[in-house]
Formats: sequence, C-alpha cells, structure tokens
Amino acid sequence: MGTKRQIKLGAILHGVGGNISGWRHPDAITDASVNFELYKRWTQKAEEGKFDFVFIADGLYITEKSIPHFLNRFEPLTILSALAGVSSKIGLVGTLSTSYSEPFTVARQFGSLDVISQGRAGWNVVTSPLEGSALNYGKTEQQHPTHPERYQIADEYLEVATGLWDSWEDDAFVRDKESGVFFDPSKMHALNHKGQYFSVKGPLNIARSRQGQPVIFQAGASESGKHFAAKWANAIFTGQETLEEAKQYYDDVKGRAAALGRDPDEIVILPGIGPIIGRTQEEAERKYEEVANLVSIEKALDFLGRFYEHHDFSQYPLDEPFPDLGDIGRNSFRSATDRMKVWAKQEGLTLRQVALRVATPKTAFLGTAESVADKLQAWFEAGAADGFIVGAAAPHGLEEFVDHVVPILRQRGLFRDEYEADTLRGNLGLPIPENRNSKRRQGVALG
Ligand SMILES: Cc1cc2nc3c(=O)[nH]c(=O)nc-3n(C[C@H](O)[C@H](O)[C@H](O)COP(=O)(O)O)c2cc1C
Repeated sequence: MGTKRQIKLGAILHGVGGNISGWRHPDAITDASVNFELYKRWTQKAEEGKFDFVFIADGLYITEKSIPHFLNRFEPLTILSALAGVSSKIGLVGTLSTSYSEPFTVARQFGSLDVISQGRAGWNVVTSPLEGSALNYGKTEQQHPTHPERYQIADEYLEVATGLWDSWEDDAFVRDKESGVFFDPSKMHALNHKGQYFSVKGPLNIARSRQGQPVIFQAGASESGKHFAAKWANAIFTGQETLEEAKQYYDDVKGRAAALGRDPDEIVILPGIGPIIGRTQEEAERKYEEVANLVSIEKALDFLGRFYEHHDFSQYPLDEPFPDLGDIGRNSFRSATDRMKVWAKQEGLTLRQVALRVATPKTAFLGTAESVADKLQAWFEAGAADGFIVGAAAPHGLEEFVDHVVPILRQRGLFRDEYEADTLRGNLGLPIPENRNSKRRQGVALG
C-alpha cells in the first residue's frame, strides 16, 4: 500500500445508460451500447483520468420491458479483450455469473484476459438474480437455484477457479530449445477437485499473469452476499445512497473479513454513484430534470418490475401505499428489494413514488464539481468508502467527472497524479496472491 490512503475510481461503461428512457435525451448516442468506438473513447478517457478500472456489467435474461441498454449490448469478456488492445494501464473488470457457467471455462477466459492485458483483469462475480436466466440455459424457472444455494454454488466455484489459476508456478515454462525442455512437470499442478457442484481435474491451460490472479469483485449486499464478499472479494461494489448506510455496510463487511482472518485493508469498497455535475447547482438540477422528465410512470413500473422477477406492477393502484409483496423479490435482487420495501414503509410512500424514485437518477452526488468532490471526500474520510464506481447519470457524465472532479480530488491530494503500477492489483494497492502450489513446495523443501 502507498503511504497515503487515496481514493480508487472505476467507471461503469453502460452504453446508452442505466435509465430506462435516457436514450431519448437530445445528447444521447442511441446505438452507444454496441458502439465499439465509443467504448474505446470512454476507456481512453478514463485512463487519461488515471481511473483504476472500467467496468462492464451484465445479465442473462431480457424481456420486452428491459431497459434499452440490456436489449442489445456487448458480452463483457469480448468487449474487455478488445479494450485491452487500446489501453495500457487501466483495469478491465467484467461481470460473469457463477450460476450459469462452468468454472474451468471461466477461469480460462479471465486468465486469458489477464495475460492479454498484462495483469489488468477483474471479475465481478454475480449469482444471476433473474430466474428467467434459467430459460436460456436449458432449465425451467423453477430450476433457477434459490438465493442461498446460488451463493453456495458461487463459493465452491471460487474455490475451483482460484485453484485453477495456480495450476502453473511462475517459472514453470522453461522453453529451452537446446535441451528440448518446454516446461518443468514438477511445476504443473492438477486441481483434482470433486465437490458438491463441480468436478474439475485441471490443470488450467493458461498460466498466471503479472498480477498472479484476476481481481475478484463482488456486488451482493444481502446477508449471504456480504458473507461471500467478506470471504472472497478483493473489491466490492455497493449501492447505498447515504453516507450513514454506506458506513454501516463498510464496517459490517470489513468486520466480517477480519473475523474470517483477512486483512480488511485488502478489500476495496466502492459505492456506485451517478454524479450529475453542473457549472452551478441550478445547472446540475436542470440536467437532472432533463433525464428524470423523460421517465413516464408506465416505464418506471417496468423498470421496478425487473428487480422483482419481472412482477407486473401495473395491477396496483398508483397512489396507494406500496403494495405488500411478501417474499416477491427475495429470490432475485434481494438486498435491493428489501431496501425498497423498508423505505416504502418507513417513509409511507405510494407505488408511484417508489417507482419514480427507483427509475430516476439518484441525487446524492448532484451539484458543482466542487460540491461533488466535497461529498466524495466526506464519504472517503468518514470510512464509508475506499473509492467509487462512477456511472454516467446523464450524457457526458464520465467526461465531466474526469475533466472537472478528478482535478479537484488531485489538488486535495486525494487522488493519484500517475498510476502507481501497470497491474490492477498494483493500482488498487492489493498484494499479489502467492501461488498455493509454490508455497506448498517451498514448505515441503523447508520441512
Ligand atoms: C455497482 C453495482 C454493479 C452491479 N453489477 C451487476 C451486474 O453486472 N450484474 C448483476 O447481475 N448484478 C449486478 N449488481 C447487483 C449485485 O451483483 C447482486 O446481483 C444483487 O445485489 C443481488 O445480490 P444480493 O441479493 O446478495 O444483494 C451490481 C450492483 C452494484 C451496486
């Protein structure tokens, strides 16, 4: 770790945006979600701003009610591999589900991205909240694993993936033409995993990168999600909207990590923010209105429905208290739906109010560049965040953040002038994990 703790920054590259109607904004680029030139430009802009990483989110099931970005977008590892070729320092992080994939394939894919990018890969491990995903993978919705089971699968999955990444010791490939020795067999290790969900022999057919293993990101905030994050994550995305909630989450997860014997400083917690920046407060508010006013109540109900397994909210009266949904939503985006149910009750909100609140931009980081920087600093210094994952709540959001907020953070000594390292682990201040097989061999040699 560097001498002074500094803010870490990631950029969400989310095509035409996370807002259901944002594509209709006069400045929106309507094909942004499948526009490689734009993804390249954004990545290079984030790298110019010395961001730690760019992030590509993902999901596995769409309906006619999904937001435009979800309907037609790049698969994360494919776009990240292309971005690796047009960048040199910035980390490349993508989402991939442990519920609908095989660890051997995925360890190989992220291992390859890590080598292609020379140590800049990160994997946001998700468990697929949407039960419709099952329909795309030869199963029925009833066969979608339950919320707790998804995390059990993910736990074993990570054991396998991280084990496979240590298949080769760093000096295993001798490649000596003279002697004809390509590799040292004593430094190649099969995994021989046989567990409840997976059976994987190994070894993996790609060696470790300069950063040892891809960085593990995680974003679940339910009890199981927090436990999983505390056990496995090197970096965590969170969705809290107030400093107090973010601090509570931060202390909770770092406490759990310490209880599991991990060093809490080796976990980077990054709340997701959608800053809206204006030259004046009024201009920022106008920008907010421009996006918020595009969202009709019908679209807002569609957007809300996705969090609740595509539940149809049009059946309820709009101006009566938010309906009692029982367990609906608890098997999908559990932490998000639980949180909405709590604030609907505590604040006595109607369905219309909840839907519009969820479907319009958050306002926690709205204002001038100076005031947004003040808020980031306050969260960081209060111990509610180690950094932030920045999404564009309005067109040009990333560019404005890099051009106007980053220089202020830098002036205050809160953000780097230059990259400290060439790898994602190096920039995030995370150690390179020791190869468990080298360690074992050294242990044997010493013993
Ligand atoms: C910044 C951020 C990014 C996320 N990205 C994804 C994503 O790409 N795919 C996904 O399925 N969920 C994503 N999520 C949601 C969580 O990964 C998780 O699916 C959700 O919170 C449900 O898990 P839980 O029930 O443990 O909270 C993201 C959450 C946050 C805060």
